[in-house]
Amino acid sequence: MRAPPRLQPLIEEGLIDTVVRQLMSGKEAMVYVVRSGEETRCAKIYKEATQRSFRQAVDYTENRKVKNSRQARAIAKGTKFGRQAQEAAWQSAEVDALYRLAAAGVRVPRPYNFHDGVLLMELVTDARGDAAPRLNEVQFSAAEAAAHHATLLVEVVRMLCAGVVHGDLSEFNILLAADGPVIIDLPQAVDAAGNNHAQRMLLRDVANLRDFFGRFAPQLLRTDFGPEIWDLYQRGLLHTDTVLTGRFTRKQGAVDVANVLRVIDDARAEEAARRLRIASG
Ligand SMILES: Nc1ncnc2c1ncn2[C@@H]1O[C@H](COP(=O)(O)OP(=O)(O)O)[C@@H](O)[C@H]1O
Ligand SMILES: [Mg+2]
Repeated sequence: MRAPPRLQPLIEEGLIDTVVRQLMSGKEAMVYVVRSGEETRCAKIYKEATQRSFRQAVDYTENRKVKNSRQARAIAKGTKFGRQAQEAAWQSAEVDALYRLAAAGVRVPRPYNFHDGVLLMELVTDARGDAAPRLNEVQFSAAEAAAHHATLLVEVVRMLCAGVVHGDLSEFNILLAADGPVIIDLPQAVDAAGNNHAQRMLLRDVANLRDFFGRFAPQLLRTDFGPEIWDLYQRGLLHTDTVLTGRFTRKQGAVDVANVLRVIDDARAEEAARRLRIASG
């Protein structure tokens, strides 16, 4: 196919030889299968901020690392330079997370390059060498579902031990490769220690896994791994080989007022983002 204009700079740089086909156009990005020399790879083109949904508007950008304080001030003020800096931070967050997680032994696509708002990475493939399906496109037996759920919980724990919460983990952002599940789509990943919303996001990620695999293996619906994982993490007791039970007893009594207020704040911010989205069409 003819290369889309956003991939032209990578062709000129010699990073891509030809564009084979478009994979899917997701919420935030367009993804293409490309050839680089002998290899087939995957190019993810980030949409401009205005064309994206607003998942980054609420909590994800909190505590996102920017290069210097001038950028941080500009972002806070919302100047044009600030918006550009924020955009760059959003886009490079995914490549940063991929490197960090690959180093921690998490199965993610191998990143090759990040150039002009395009991420060039390993194409995750099925047994026939075609682009791997997302979990939501696959049917599982109860035993397969339980096995994949267990594998992915270990991945979530590995990520958390590396200080990362995915933040948008679900059957739509996990591919089923020939050698098992591969986690993708990380621009919203957050720093587990430095982000006030990390706990809520981790609980949601783990609940999404349970609810999806629970459709095939209903016994999973009675498990409660998220709070157990977070509790161990907070107490400094979570390791990549920690054996989890899937049960968690909440402490009675003391109410965490700060957390209640945070949940209310989150709901308010999400509602504001929703209105903004409606207003901007
Ligand atoms: N490395 C990859 N290998 C194979 N397919 C991929 C890869 N990365 C993304 N895709 C495909 O492109 C789709 C969109 O990519 P994703 O990173 O989830 O972006 P979005 O933010 O648009 O959801 C995925 O659902 C998947 O089908
Ligand atoms: Mg996605």
